[in-house]
Amino acid sequence: MALKRALKSNIQEMIEGLDKFNSDPKDGTTRILFTEPELKARNYIKEEMAKVGLSVREDAIGNIFATLEGSDPSLPVVWTGSHIDTVINAGKFDGMAGVVAGIEAARLIKEFGQKHKRNIEVLVYTSEEPTRFGLGCLGSRAMAGELSLDKAKELKDEEGNSLTEVLESLGYDLAEFDQIPVKQGGVFAAVELHIEQGAVLESLEVPIGIVESIAGPSSFEVSIAGKQSHAGGTPMNLRHDAFLACCEIALEAERLAKESASKDTVATVGRVEVLPNASNVISGEVYFSIDIRDSDYEVKSECIDNLMKFIEEVEEDRGLTIKVEKINDDQPTPSDQKIIKILEESCTNKEIRFHKMISGAFHDSMMVGKFAPIAMIFVPSKDGISHSPKEWSDYSDIARGTDILADTLLKLANE
Ligand code: GLV
Ligand code: MN
Ligand code: MN
Repeated sequence: MALKRALKSNIQEMIEGLDKFNSDPKDGTTRILFTEPELKARNYIKEEMAKVGLSVREDAIGNIFATLEGSDPSLPVVWTGSHIDTVINAGKFDGMAGVVAGIEAARLIKEFGQKHKRNIEVLVYTSEEPTRFGLGCLGSRAMAGELSLDKAKELKDEEGNSLTEVLESLGYDLAEFDQIPVKQGGVFAAVELHIEQGAVLESLEVPIGIVESIAGPSSFEVSIAGKQSHAGGTPMNLRHDAFLACCEIALEAERLAKESASKDTVATVGRVEVLPNASNVISGEVYFSIDIRDSDYEVKSECIDNLMKFIEEVEEDRGLTIKVEKINDDQPTPSDQKIIKILEESCTNKEIRFHKMISGAFHDSMMVGKFAPIAMIFVPSKDGISHSPKEWSDYSDIARGTDILADTLLKLANE
């Protein structure tokens, strides 16, 4: 006897159900951590979890756990899950596909009727996106012991509220913050389904990606203080233009990534704030982000060192003051070969073609990989687009990925 197939209609209903909680519905999906739509989405997803018979709890940073009990709950548990927060004007699949697939997989396993050994838990990790507090994977980072209460106190949103203030105002108990980290060995295996957010699967016409490694991201906040002055009155040789320094740095980041020894190096300047941002004024201040990622930590570190040297040169040449703050510098996370093998077998048994690949995007699995064996299932992204209202993945592709997920979770739960 085998598991039943995932229902595309269930996947679609839950993804569309979540999408009702959206602070900017005219332009894709925006659901930022602990805003009203995000809190409502949390309630919605907890109800969906309860509907399929899972028991739901939360930890002190709002990670949600929904448990399908096995015959021996004392054994290390099997996890699946993802996130339900988004970047600004995103799509409705990044993160949500994995949570919904987890709930549907748990339903299939429950209805299968044969008791599995280990508990299976479907998780929603708190704020995978760095949108509100500037740092990504807050919930899973805390689980990995890399976000202490003191660090959480320092993380501020644009209004100056700290993460801990926001948590307290919502009734989370900070006295329990030190119970968030998960012990090595506490989780037997964790498998996350996610949309690919690139065009590799689509171009190969392969429906399933098996992630072998998640690239490690590094991010920086840079501020440049130049000299604000008149665009007509100031000759070119007497300027200290903060924006042009930012442009030079962004172009150098691009060059370093393109010419790096690793094919996976990517560098992005995605947010720039130019002051005073007026057509006839030389900019006096610029604030911007740098995001650099690689599957090879050494190559990434070299690339960052070179960029930092370049920034010092620009500071000197242009007579400016440049400050660089490192936000995070994460290691790449390899997937567990045993889980990969189970995923491959599952695809082969179901005659589904798969492709082994790296994930350039980061995921909560990157942090979970610090205390548990992980692997990921990718499903295709239309035109490779993500972090955009144009993001799209076919519900039937997510359902196919859910079949692989359910099969794999059940096998892991019986190991
Ligand atoms: C997560 O969304 C990332 O930026 O990779
Ligand atoms: Mn994302
Ligand atoms: Mn995501």
